[in-house]
Amino acid sequence: MNFFTFIPIFLFVIDDAECWKIFHRGRSVGGNLGLPRRNKNGLFKDISPEKWFLQNLDHFNPGNNQKWKQRYFVNNQFYNGSVNAPIFLMIGGEGEASAEWMTQGTWIDYARSFGALCFQLEHRYYGKSHPTEDLSTKNLQYLTSQQALADLAYFIQAMNIEYKLNKDVKWIVFGGSYPGSLAAWMRMKYPHLVHGAMSASGPLLAEVDFKEYFKVVDEALETHSEGCVSAVKQGTNQIEILLRHMIGQRNINKLFQLCDPIEQSVSNTNDIANFFETLSGNFAGIVQYNKDNRIGKSSKNSITLDTLCDIMVNDSIGPQIERLATINHLLLDTYDQKCLDYKYSKMIDEMRNISWEAESSEGGRQWTYQTCTEFGFFQTSTYSPQIFGDKFPVDFFIQQCVDIFGSKYNATFLNDAVDRTNLIYGAFDIDVTNVVFVHGSIDPWHALGIIKTRSQGAPAIYIKGTAHCANMYPKSDQDLPQLTNARQQIAELIDSWLRL
Ligand SMILES: *[C@@H]1O[C@H](CO)[C@@H](O)[C@H](O)[C@H]1NC(C)=O
Ligand SMILES: *[C@@H]1O[C@H](CO)[C@@H](O)[C@H](O)[C@H]1NC(C)=O
Ligand SMILES: *[C@@H]1O[C@H](CO)[C@@H](O)[C@H](O)[C@H]1NC(C)=O
Repeated sequence: MNFFTFIPIFLFVIDDAECWKIFHRGRSVGGNLGLPRRNKNGLFKDISPEKWFLQNLDHFNPGNNQKWKQRYFVNNQFYNGSVNAPIFLMIGGEGEASAEWMTQGTWIDYARSFGALCFQLEHRYYGKSHPTEDLSTKNLQYLTSQQALADLAYFIQAMNIEYKLNKDVKWIVFGGSYPGSLAAWMRMKYPHLVHGAMSASGPLLAEVDFKEYFKVVDEALETHSEGCVSAVKQGTNQIEILLRHMIGQRNINKLFQLCDPIEQSVSNTNDIANFFETLSGNFAGIVQYNKDNRIGKSSKNSITLDTLCDIMVNDSIGPQIERLATINHLLLDTYDQKCLDYKYSKMIDEMRNISWEAESSEGGRQWTYQTCTEFGFFQTSTYSPQIFGDKFPVDFFIQQCVDIFGSKYNATFLNDAVDRTNLIYGAFDIDVTNVVFVHGSIDPWHALGIIKTRSQGAPAIYIKGTAHCANMYPKSDQDLPQLTNARQQIAELIDSWLRL
């Protein structure tokens, strides 16, 4: 989907859900961690006002001494200043950092039991951390994961001084989704500053065509209920048939509440790609975040895998295409959208806006830039049996890079960029100790992460049945026993690292 068409999921991600999303450009359902669930009374006591840290613009050019202000949060309520107390750092990612994480989530339970001092550093270019006056492509040259890691290093060094920490103090970093990758890379690149890392749902392999994404979505749907996958596939076939003639096209306009009539778009492959990608995004977003404990899990975003498959296998709703339309309607409704916007040109115009005031600056433009220059991660329709059709291949996403950032950002550029990322970080061959890699079996991002222990010092925990970043959210009575065990295992690992 695109930024625009995918607005339902996008809003979901941005407003309610700020773990750290691997955004989509609109649509590409990203990772990201949502906000933790609030207490029963819904109150949130802000004990951690935002603070600012003077940061270098370019860590890799000593001749450039430009500075900017990076936002961070502190919680010292568990810290007693003892020599052995650890320091915890939550790594910000591709969305706004949130004060809510300073008092909630599993890392706060750990902080309480270890007496840790807690920090959270917002990622450059996201939230309120604005290194440059706007988001022009030229200014985005300082938006890289390597710069972000160096930001963290300078931050740790500065806090060691400010809090007069012992030189053997042990920093443990936490991150979910893209920050999960950063957490592992931080331990690899700066082992003298970071003693251990909890890396949740972190993709370690950069890949242009992230075809495995929909493999995991398909498997999650299939495991959920027999017939769910085939119903989706049949619904998609029915759409493709209707698209072939005028009466069918008008039917689609009505069924899917399209903002613009599709008759005018049938020959525009980008519009059609966007339409199918948006429909696939309806499913992907729900699967990726299925039943986690994010904030606002009221009736509003309690749509789960069960909801989707219950509709898809229910004959009395009508043919499969009508069941897909029912899901689309439900999501539009949930996110207060009047109609489904699938126009490619609208999405691109929105993403080309370089203002910090623009909607795309909530992360869509920045994350798209990172995917086009470092990671790829494009959630394409390549994987067979292509239950959402074959209309959003990798070229569709590369075209977006070119249309948003310029002709230089073509396939050659992107392939080189992804090779570079895998070379400098090592992909699955990352060589680290004191890192735990945590993934969930229904989170599509596990396909790019380490899910089997490869070395004793860096164990993997693979949780059956959980979605993206599940172990980071506050615990709940409904949690699967394997999720509860994983949280406990991580606590034990942290404890063992602190004894080293
Ligand atoms: C199937 O859909 C019909 C019509 O919307 C609804 O009344 C019924 O409860 C659904 N059945 C199940 C098993 O969800
Ligand atoms: C960019 O977005 C801002 C804020 O929404 C808007 O005022 C401005 O007109 C947009 N610029 C362009 C070129 O569309
Ligand atoms: C991408 O652009 C470069 C020039 O910037 C060109 O040399 C290369 O052939 C292009 N690659 C493709 C696949 O178009």
